[in-house]
This record gives sequence, structure tokens and C-alpha cells, in this order.
Amino acid sequence: METKVYSTYYELSENAAKEIIDIVKKKPSAVLCLASGETPKLTCQKLVEKAKLENIDFSKIVFIGLDEWVGIPPDNEGSCHFFFQTQLFKHLNFSEQRIHLFNGMADDLTKECGKMDTVIFDHGGIDLMLVGIGMNGHVGFNEPGASFLNYSHVMDLDSVTTSVGQKYFKETMDLKRGITLGLKHLVESKKVLMLANGERKARIIKAALQGRMGNLVPASIVQTIPHATVMLDKEAASLLENNSGCL
Ligand code: F6R
Repeated sequence: METKVYSTYYELSENAAKEIIDIVKKKPSAVLCLASGETPKLTCQKLVEKAKLENIDFSKIVFIGLDEWVGIPPDNEGSCHFFFQTQLFKHLNFSEQRIHLFNGMADDLTKECGKMDTVIFDHGGIDLMLVGIGMNGHVGFNEPGASFLNYSHVMDLDSVTTSVGQKYFKETMDLKRGITLGLKHLVESKKVLMLANGERKARIIKAALQGRMGNLVPASIVQTIPHATVMLDKEAASLLENNSGCL
């Protein structure tokens, strides 16, 4: 695991977008998996800007959505679907048949998980996973206690996730479960970028990167992933020991 600290969220986002562009340039049929949420929002915006400027083709990219709220329809503005639709798909030339997002409304969620794992396997694995970190250390919806050995699965949401998650919705929602890629996908992904910004993430970043590795803080699995880069702004990195400063 490598840690990079940027002086601003803007710089962090520009560099994360550049990492994605570099992969797409090298491998136009790459399998990309992104998280939604506040953290990667500016990365997506920068990605769209750069891709348009350099005329980059996304038509062969296989896109995997990291997770989805169970029971939330895709047209709800708080859904992960809605995020990708508005932040990425409507701006870049992704092929619809190469976009794979969990259907949180599916009757058979186990089948939904199996379908996602098969897509990933059939395409030779994920080339890049870009994830955020929850205030409780979750990655995707791998909540505290999640097994490190899971592929896609459904998980009951921790109370921190159900209350913090309200920020994405216009009305108070009854959030109970999430459908998510597993931590085993993260370990097996050829490249991992874990992003965090802002002072509110400093405590959990310290626990994930320098605390005891274990599933009480799912993001701590990143300590075991040599090909992972943790990208932080200086506020999110502020509690780290031996923090050698910004890039
Ligand atoms: C969203 C996701 C979540 C978020 C995490 C941080 O698809 O997988 O794990 O990455 O909750 O959310 P923000 O970025 O809103 O602080």
C-alpha cells in the first residue's frame, strides 16, 4: 500500500482522474469499478473534462458499479445508479451493454450478486477499483464485520451508514441493506485507489491505515494490498503518524 497526500481535494481529484485516463488509454477495454458518493464526485467531473479534451473513447470499457442501496429505484437521486448516470454516462460514450450496475430492486438479490461476479470473472477481473471510505470504515457496503473473503453479497447496513447515507436523499429514507462487491474483489483487482478527503475522515483513515488490521474496520484490508494507492487530501491525512507532507 502506498499513501499519497495532496494539498487540496481538487488536486487529489485531478490525479485520481488522471489515473483512470491512463488506464483507459493503455487498455481501452479495461474493466473499471467506481464508487459513487461525495468523495469521487470531483474525480468524475475531472475525468469527463479530461476525456472530452483528449477525445478518449469509453465505448469498449466495461463499467462495474461498486454497490447499490437495496430497495431504492434507479431514478431516485440518492441511488448509485443515478450518480453514475448523471456524473458519467450522460457525458461519455460508455456502451450501455457494457455497463453493469446492481439492481437494488431485484427480487432475487443472490442471483444479482452471482450475475455481477460472473461478469467480472468473464472479463478477466477488474483492472481498476476506485473506492471511498465510510465514516465507519466501510468500503462499498462491506460494513464493519464483513468477511474479507466475500465476493458480491448483500449486507445489513450499520447504523452509521443508515444515518450518514441520508445525505444523498431529498427525503428521509428507510435504508436497511446494501448490495455490494466484496472485499475479495478489492484484493484481486489489478489496481486499487482508495480516496478520502476532509477532516471528518481523518479519524477513520488513521484507524484504517495505521490501526489494527481486521474486519471491524473493513478498509484496513488496504494494508494488505501492495497495488493499492490511498489518495488523501491533507485534512484526511492530518492524524497520520510519519505523514511526510503533501505532494
Ligand atoms: C458509495 C460507496 C460508499 C462510499 C462511502 C463514502 O458507492 O461505496 O462506500 O464510498 O460511504 O461516501 P462519501 O464519499 O459520500 O463520503
